[in-house]
Amino acid sequence: MAADNKIRFVVIGAGHIGKRHAEMIRRDEEGELVAMVDVRSKEECGVADWNVPFYHTFDEVLSSGLEFDVVNVCTPNGFHAAQSLAALNAKKHVVCEKPMGLTKDSCEKVIFKSLQVSKQVFCVMQNRYSPPSVWIKELIEKEVLGEIFMVQLNCYWNRDERYYKQGGWKGTEDLDGGTLFTQFSHFIDIMYWLFGDIDNIQGKFADFTHKNITDFEDSGFVSFDFTNGGMGSINYSTSVAMQNLESSITIIGKKGSVKIGGQYMNEVEICNIEGYEMPELAPTNPGNDYGAYKGSAANHNFVIRNVIETLKGRTSATTNALEGLKVVEIIERIYKVRNEQFNL
Ligand SMILES: NC(=O)c1ccc[n+]([C@@H]2O[C@H](COP(=O)([O-])OP(=O)(O)OC[C@H]3O[C@@H](n4cnc5c(N)ncnc54)[C@H](O)[C@@H]3O)[C@@H](O)[C@H]2O)c1
Repeated sequence: MAADNKIRFVVIGAGHIGKRHAEMIRRDEEGELVAMVDVRSKEECGVADWNVPFYHTFDEVLSSGLEFDVVNVCTPNGFHAAQSLAALNAKKHVVCEKPMGLTKDSCEKVIFKSLQVSKQVFCVMQNRYSPPSVWIKELIEKEVLGEIFMVQLNCYWNRDERYYKQGGWKGTEDLDGGTLFTQFSHFIDIMYWLFGDIDNIQGKFADFTHKNITDFEDSGFVSFDFTNGGMGSINYSTSVAMQNLESSITIIGKKGSVKIGGQYMNEVEICNIEGYEMPELAPTNPGNDYGAYKGSAANHNFVIRNVIETLKGRTSATTNALEGLKVVEIIERIYKVRNEQFNL
């Protein structure tokens, strides 16, 4: 912590989301952005006029003698685990963009190191802050829906040539990892956060419109059992024409049913629970807008606030490293079923 008690951050990756982290740190009165790191130039990253030290590698930051507390890993997915490890080796806390890694094994190494050096690893799952998510979490914890019978997650988005640019990291097996990692891990996180782990995974996968633009499937129907009881499914696709269709969760419980929908699970569409009156919820922040396509809720201000509050001992991490690992592990197990189907 700096003499003025501010938490000092270094952001690695100055792309779309790294700039958002940087902006949120700058806006937080207890945060200080001390450096940004990117393999590209300041101009290429669109931060030429930002008054912040800029480096091309994390090693350069370390040898500069700069003092800082936290490293925000905002690079392509395939770099997350290795860069988190490098930050922990330098005895810094980590804020890691989703997903925490592309294999359970790499996430385990990060958790092992964080325990060894007593530093925190915060995972970014900002959809947890959306008012419908906060509301449904409380409802499930208080068992208002009773026994859970069925949970259905529908994630139907548009990602086409406008998104998968030639030569970029998106769509590649090693740096992107797959549709469930890049597009839909937020929703798998919400499902895991609400209902816990899954088992007996079965699936059917297809590649409808991305054969020439990505290394992996674009669509799937996945079904499973919850280890806590009840059964569930994830139906997903990035082949939806023109624009996102929906990201929704439908929950069928013994005492009632709920559907949260909208483009990114941002609206409670149905709440039918015996003897329960739905409270009025605050509006959800709009989704991240990348021009032609739209992403998850723009809630990164809450993420940075939670990091600062946690490091100052006032609260605990909203999404900790074990939860980050579980999402990766669930996706890895789903992809094992896909790989068997595709003989990969
Ligand atoms: N939480 C969310 O809702 C959300 C939304 C979008 C992206 N993300 C995640 O954020 C990460 C970045 O996504 P993005 O959309 O900002 O991508 P992006 O391509 O816009 O930015 C990535 C940046 O990392 C830089 N980079 C690449 N390799 C590097 C390296 N080895 N060292 C330093 N910099 C390097 C690139 O030059 C680029 O500027 C991804 O993991 C993605 O899944 C999360």
